[in-house]
Amino acid sequence: MSRAVTEGASEDDARSQVEDVLLPFDLPLEKLCEVSKRLDENLTKGLTKETHDKASVKMLPTFVRDTPDGTENGDFLALDLGGTNVRVLHVRVEENLQNLLYKKPIPEYIKKGKVEELFNYIADVLAESLKELELKEKVLPLGFSCSFPCEQKDIDKANLIRWTKGFACSGGVGCDVVKLLKEAIKRKEESEEHNLFQVYKIQPVAILNDTVGTMMSCPYKDQSCEIGLIIGTGTNACYMEEMRDVKRVEGDEGRMCINTEWGGFGDGDDGSLQDVRTEFDKKVDLSSSNQGVHTFEKMISGMYLGELARLVLIEMTEKNLLFGGKGSKALSTPYSFKTPFISEIEKENTGLKRAQEILKDLGLSAKQKDCEIVQQVCETISTRSAQLCGAALAAVANRIRNNRGLSHFSTTVGVDGAVYAQHPHYSDRLQKTVQKLAPNCTITFVKTEDGSGNGAAMAAAVVKRLKRKKST
Ligand code: GLC
Repeated sequence: MSRAVTEGASEDDARSQVEDVLLPFDLPLEKLCEVSKRLDENLTKGLTKETHDKASVKMLPTFVRDTPDGTENGDFLALDLGGTNVRVLHVRVEENLQNLLYKKPIPEYIKKGKVEELFNYIADVLAESLKELELKEKVLPLGFSCSFPCEQKDIDKANLIRWTKGFACSGGVGCDVVKLLKEAIKRKEESEEHNLFQVYKIQPVAILNDTVGTMMSCPYKDQSCEIGLIIGTGTNACYMEEMRDVKRVEGDEGRMCINTEWGGFGDGDDGSLQDVRTEFDKKVDLSSSNQGVHTFEKMISGMYLGELARLVLIEMTEKNLLFGGKGSKALSTPYSFKTPFISEIEKENTGLKRAQEILKDLGLSAKQKDCEIVQQVCETISTRSAQLCGAALAAVANRIRNNRGLSHFSTTVGVDGAVYAQHPHYSDRLQKTVQKLAPNCTITFVKTEDGSGNGAAMAAAVVKRLKRKKST
C-alpha cells in the first residue's frame, strides 16, 4: 500500500507522487527541438532513393503538382474515407457550393472484415448519396480522399501500404484502392441493387491522402497554403517539396506535394523516439491492432489519447492516488475513456463538473480532488500531443524555408481533425511550440471543415482543367 494511505502522508506528498507518474510526459523545449531535428533527418531518408525502403517516415509522392488556380468549374463528387466515417460531398466549384450529401460511421466489423466488404459498404454510401442529387450532368468526376498510406503511381493510382488507426481488413495491402472502388461500384451496378448507378456514371479521376485534400481545399481562398495537417483519429501532414529533392520521381522542375506519413516516425530500431516514449505509450502499442508501427501517431492522435489517459488513471488508482484506490470494471475496459472526454474535462468553468459526471458513468466514486487530478492527467497528455505535433510541424516549415533559401518564410497551414477542432487549448499549445521551434517562419492556421472531402473534389477539378488545357 502506498505511503499516502499507510502513513497518512500530507497532501503535498500525494501531489508529488501524482507528478512523478506524469513526469515522463513532460518534454522540455530542448527535447522538442531534438525531436524536430530527428524528424527532419527522417524526412530526408524517406525522400532519398537509397534510404527510402528502410525509412520510417515514408514521404510519399502524391503527383499533385498544381493547386487550384480559380478557373476550375463543374460538378464533382468527393468520397472521403476517414478513420471513423465515410463521407460523400457534392461540390459545384464555380459557385463555391459544398454540400455534404451523406456521412456514415464505419462499424468495427467492417474495419476488421474483408476488404471487398469495406468497399461494398463505401459503394452503398455512395449510392445513398446519389439519391440526394438532381443534376443534368450524368457523368460525375470523383475525387477520392483516402486516409491511409498509399504508394502512388499516378494521380489516379494508389497502392495501399498498410492499414492504420484500428483498421485491420484482410486483403487490400498492396492493392490499388481506386481499382477496389471501381470494382465495388461495378458489382453494385451489375446486381442492380442501386439503380442510380445506372443513371449517374461515377468516374474516379483523382486519389489523394486526406492531408493533401485538406491542403487543396485552402488555395481556392488562400493561395499561400502549402501545408496540410490532420490531427484527428490519426495524425499526418503533407507539404509542397522541391522536385529536385523528390529523388524517387523523375524531373527537377517545380514542386510536388509530399504526403509525409509522419505517424510512422519512431518505428523500427532507429531509436528516434526511444527517450521520449513512456511505459504507457508502449502499453498502448502492445494492445493495438498494428503493433510496432505508427509510433508517433500513437503518442498524438485521437484514436489513442483517451486510452493513454485511462492507463495513467489505472496506475494512479493502483498507487492509491485516485478514487480511494478503488477502480471499476469500466475503467479496466480498454478504450472506455474516450478521447473527447479529454476536451470536455479541460474546458474552463465546466470541466470539473463534467469530470465528475464522466467518472460516475465509469462507475468510479470521485471526490473534488480526484476530478482535479484527472483534469491534470488530461492536460498533461493533450499538451504533450500538441507539443510533439508542433515540433513536427516546425521541422516541415524550417525545411521549406531552408530549401528555398529564405531568411523568413510565411505560409498557411490547412488543418482538419477532431482533436484540433474540438479541444479548447490544443491549437494554442501547438502554435506556441511551432513559434519557438521555427522562429523564422510565420504560420497562419486555417481550420477547414470537411477539408479532405472538398480538397478531393478540387483535385478532381484540377485534373479536369489540365485535361481541357491539353486538348485545346
Ligand atoms: C494515418 C494514415 C495517414 C492519414 C492520417 C490522418 O496516419 O496513415 O495516411 O493521413 O492517419 O488521417
